[in-house]
Amino acid sequence: MKFFLDTANLDQIKEAHDLGVLDGITTNPSLMAKEGIKGHDAVMGHYKTICEIVDGDVSAEVISVDLATMIEEGKALSAIHPNIVVKVPMTRDGVKAMKWFTDNGIRTNCTLVFSAGQAILAAKAGAAYVSPFIGRIDDTGWDGVQLIEQIAKIYSVQGFETQILAASIRNSNHIVQCAEAGANVCTTPLAPLLGLLNHPLTDIGLAKFIEDAKKFK
Ligand code: E4P
Repeated sequence: MKFFLDTANLDQIKEAHDLGVLDGITTNPSLMAKEGIKGHDAVMGHYKTICEIVDGDVSAEVISVDLATMIEEGKALSAIHPNIVVKVPMTRDGVKAMKWFTDNGIRTNCTLVFSAGQAILAAKAGAAYVSPFIGRIDDTGWDGVQLIEQIAKIYSVQGFETQILAASIRNSNHIVQCAEAGANVCTTPLAPLLGLLNHPLTDIGLAKFIEDAKKFK
């Protein structure tokens, strides 16, 4: 399973990159706005900077909702860097746009996916990635990880090549559960990723080893 970082924050991207296990980045309009990036040129420049830090796919989301404008936006985003993947919402026009992008050699990430039916549509439209939002599903009292399992089964049975990109990750356990459920990629904020490092027995064991090492130094 690949690790993507779900942020537009350059410091966090550099920190995850330095860990050596980062495979890509996902952003969305909310994450871009959080960084205070304003205006077309600044947004395009920010995506370029991210692509220069990370050697992997970088999802950049369209902010229009009609087919013609989504296509124009997606063309401009994909021209920024070969690693840009155009993120498109799961709507009627979004499906048409993804099919257009697929037919024209532009890779897409279908976002805002909350059901297996939507994941089938994304695969049929040729999306490179499908992004089920597992944390938001959990928030409504349903089981987000179960959706990952269901999509993984359907894609395997049907031979769909779309990669399952588990999104809306809230904690480290989500990452482990998504790996077990068959996600190809997990996109996470920095804290759940770093949380994978932690176990109290590791800390206790290391303290003992350091103490004992003093005896034969
Ligand atoms: C990433 O592709 C998604 O936009 C993101 O994971 C959504 O996460 P959230 O539910 O925490 O906003």
